[in-house]
Amino acid sequence: PASAAEPRAGDLSVGGVPLAELAGRFGTPVYVLDESEVRDRCRTYRDAFPDAEVLYAAKAFLCRAMARWTAEEGLGLDVCSAGELELAVTTGFPPERIVLHGNAKSPRDLDTALRLGVGRIVIDSPSEIARLAAAVGPDGHQRVMVRVVPGISAGGHEKIRTGTEDQHFGLSIADGYAQHAIARLLDQPQLELTGLHCHLGSQITGVRPYLAAVRRMVGLMARLYEQHGLVLPELDLGGGHGVAYRPGDRALDLTALARRVRAELSDACAAAGIPVPRLLLEPGRAIVGPAGVVLYRVLAVKRTGGRVFLAVDGGMSDNPRPALYGVRYAPRLIGRHSTAAPARVTVVGRHCEAGDILAADVELPEDVRPGDLLAVPVAGAYHLSMASGYNLVGRPPVAAVRDGLARLLVRRESLEDIRGRDVGL
Ligand code: LLP
Repeated sequence: PASAAEPRAGDLSVGGVPLAELAGRFGTPVYVLDESEVRDRCRTYRDAFPDAEVLYAAKAFLCRAMARWTAEEGLGLDVCSAGELELAVTTGFPPERIVLHGNAKSPRDLDTALRLGVGRIVIDSPSEIARLAAAVGPDGHQRVMVRVVPGISAGGHEKIRTGTEDQHFGLSIADGYAQHAIARLLDQPQLELTGLHCHLGSQITGVRPYLAAVRRMVGLMARLYEQHGLVLPELDLGGGHGVAYRPGDRALDLTALARRVRAELSDACAAAGIPVPRLLLEPGRAIVGPAGVVLYRVLAVKRTGGRVFLAVDGGMSDNPRPALYGVRYAPRLIGRHSTAAPARVTVVGRHCEAGDILAADVELPEDVRPGDLLAVPVAGAYHLSMASGYNLVGRPPVAAVRDGLARLLVRRESLEDIRGRDVGL
């Protein structure tokens, strides 16, 4: 039967390196990233959207190597803080290929963006227009986009839906806020409006919401053309492209997305009598999620309340996603081959909460015992980037594998790191 207990699961390798070997070398928990897979995923986007600008959404996962890989593969970068921006630029990421987002950009975010010369800043509120115009100064120049709310519901979980009216990102078309902000922007000669942006949400597995977004955005572009004679050369449809977390899960079909978005865009623009804008996309999860795996060691096995719990040496501090969004993962036993029958177990973390459940009711061999290793695939996106300092366990390291070789990208957070920030007594 196809289950996590299938024969040979124990031999699992990534990038030509057995995962168990990586656990031994770097300790557990550890995130492992397959560099070739990240690069292949970047190329898949470039091939599917040859005329578009593909920006990797850094919030999914960022370290210096990741910035270098995406830059080398010709992608741009979507950042939403001075921190992400500085890390990328100091690694050599071309600033003109970077877009700054944020519904609450701090003075430091804006100053850093202007100092480093980011390509575009995405306006997310009316008050930001005056702030940005002042920071740029009367003789300065900055390219901007405006984030609008298309009024479309899509995405894997309520907490990651950002296309609807009742959430706090972007300016509503329905309420006229977007049109009003754009009119105000046109009075600021130092801010050059290059296009509109929308981001529907995350973990979207169907193409249709994107087609609806194209129609809505082109509709607004047509109105802006009629009212202001404005021709916007760019349209950014954000990210949100869903991936499969478990065998059998659905992922967004990129080829279909490319073909149908292109067709919808040219039809809608032709009907509206406006030129077809250049497309921008901001995938995060789909670039790095499936390229990562996290390894844990089992510390305890317990039968209680009619369930079997496997407790591992990580948990909600390195992966808050099951607790936040109810995401389901498919852990596998690695490091040894088991012929034992599959048993229904719940993999839990080490934190002091009943909600620290990494994978409820999954099948693993019934002989899994303390000391065994588990691998949780599709851990490249929104794991380390959302890791916390809970219980002072220290955030796990990141190792990269490629062509049979492994190297450390980010080291484990140590007690010295934690103590170093604790400066009072
Ligand atoms: N562009 C903008 C403006 C965004 O806000 C996001 C994600 C992206 C692009 C990239 O979306 P992606 O392609 O990765 O779905 N922590 C959640 C996901 C939050 C996404 C936030 N914004 C999770 O773990 O599922």
